[in-house]
Amino acid sequence: MSNTLDASGAGSDTPNLDFAGTTPYEDYVQADVLTHLQHPRSDDPGEMVFLVTTQVMELWFTVIVHEWETAARALREDRVPVAMDALKRSLRELEALNASWRPLAQLTPAQFNSYRGALGEGSGFQSAMYRRMEFLLGEKSASMLVPHRGAPRVHAELEKALHEPSLYDEVLRLLARRGLPVPQSVLDRDLSRRYEASPEVEAVWTALYGDPDAHPDLHRLGEALTDVAELVWRWRNDHLVATRRAMGAKTGTGGSAGVSWLEKRASKNVFPELWTARSHV
Ligand code: HEM
Repeated sequence: MSNTLDASGAGSDTPNLDFAGTTPYEDYVQADVLTHLQHPRSDDPGEMVFLVTTQVMELWFTVIVHEWETAARALREDRVPVAMDALKRSLRELEALNASWRPLAQLTPAQFNSYRGALGEGSGFQSAMYRRMEFLLGEKSASMLVPHRGAPRVHAELEKALHEPSLYDEVLRLLARRGLPVPQSVLDRDLSRRYEASPEVEAVWTALYGDPDAHPDLHRLGEALTDVAELVWRWRNDHLVATRRAMGAKTGTGGSAGVSWLEKRASKNVFPELWTARSHV
C-alpha cells in the first residue's frame, strides 16, 4: 500500500510516505516532544543556542550516567570486558559533550547580559544529572540533594545514587577481589561521603602501573578511568573559561562567587590516586 503512494510514483525503492498515525520515527524518537521543549525567556535571539546547548549537555549527561552505571554493575559481576565497552563508549560521548561547548565558548559579557536576567536564579549548579555523574565519580555530597527537595522523583534518584557504590568504589572492590591490597577501611567506607584519596590505594595503582603485564586488564581499566578523569577535567575547564569570558569575576546566577568558586571545583582531580601514583612508577 505505502509503495503505491511514494512522491515520485516510481517504485518500491523510495521511502514509505503513508502512515496511519504518527510516523514510526516519531514513535521511537519523540522528536515532536523534544523539539518543543525550548521556551526562551527573553527576546534575545542568542538565548536559543544557550538553552539548547544546555539541553544537549543534559542529554549527554544522561547517556554518560547510563554508561557508568552499566560499567559499575558489570564490575560488580566481574565482567571487566563489558565494563570496558561501556567506559569506552562514554569516552566518545564525553568528547561529544565537550565539543558542544563550541557555540557558547566565545560569549561576550554584552551577549550573555542580553538574557542573563531572564535566567533568574537558575544555574547549572542545580543540574541533578550532573550531580549523578559526580556521585558516580565518587564526588558524593548529601548537601547536593537539598536543592531538589521540591522534586520527588529527582530527589529519590539522587538519594539512591548517593548511597550506592560509585564507579570507583566498584573498581576498588574488583582490585581487592583480584588480590590487591586495598585496605578494608576503604572497602567499608561510608558510601554517601566524598571519596578521599588513600596512600594504600595509590600504592596499588603504583604497583599495577609499574608492572602492566601482571594484570593487563586492570592496567587497561586504569587507563580508561584516567581518560574519563581527563575528559571530565576538560569539561570543567572549558566551562570555567567560557564563564570567565562571559562574565569575568561577577557572581553566578546560582549565588556562588562565580569564576573563583568554579576554579576550586575544577582543580580537584577525579580518581585522585590514578594521578598521584604516576609520580612513583
Ligand atoms: C557560558 C555560559 C555559562 C556561564 C556564564 C555559566 C556560569 C556558571 C557559574 C557562575 C556557575 C557557579 C554556580 C553559580 O553561582 O551559578 C556554574 C555552575 C555550573 N554550570 Fe554553568 N555556566 C554556563 C554554561 C553552562 C552550561 C551550558 C551548562 C550545561 C549544563 C552548565 C552547567 C553547570 C554546572 C553543572 C554547574 C555546577 C558545577 C559544579 O557543581 O562544580 N553551565 N555555571
